[in-house]
Amino acid sequence: MSNNETASPKIRALYEAALAVRSRAYAPYSGYFVGAAVQTATGAIYVGCNMENASYGATICAERVAMGAAVSAESRPQIVAVMIVTDAEIPWPPCGMCRQVIAEFGADCQIYCANLGGVMQQTPFAELYPQSFSIGHLQNT
Ligand code: THU
Repeated sequence: MSNNETASPKIRALYEAALAVRSRAYAPYSGYFVGAAVQTATGAIYVGCNMENASYGATICAERVAMGAAVSAESRPQIVAVMIVTDAEIPWPPCGMCRQVIAEFGADCQIYCANLGGVMQQTPFAELYPQSFSIGHLQNT
């Protein structure tokens, strides 16, 4: 566990990016505003906020919106870090569906779960989603 003051400048930049995009979350149904920022091996940062829908199941989480931005810019991004910011006292980890999407491009990345107070919990992605389903399994059939 670290916080925004003790984090490295790179991680602080990722936090600031996720914090900024969170303000644009479209969450009229749940009221939960989520911001996500992903960093690729190129150093570039891509952001996303959650995007809800009147047909609730069509909602897309902030992490997947950010991943989509990374893929749209780099096609096959190598994700090295994912930052998620909410206002929750206990920072939110990525949901199961987002873990599956992160696994595709960032199996070795670090996940940072943070809140508005700057509390940040760092976890290796492989710990959050061990034995993930991947392209290798498709090739083994
Ligand atoms: N949400 C995210 O953006 N990321 C997650 O990992 C968990 C949930 C969003 C979806 C929905 O808009 C709201 O938070 C409540 O579930």
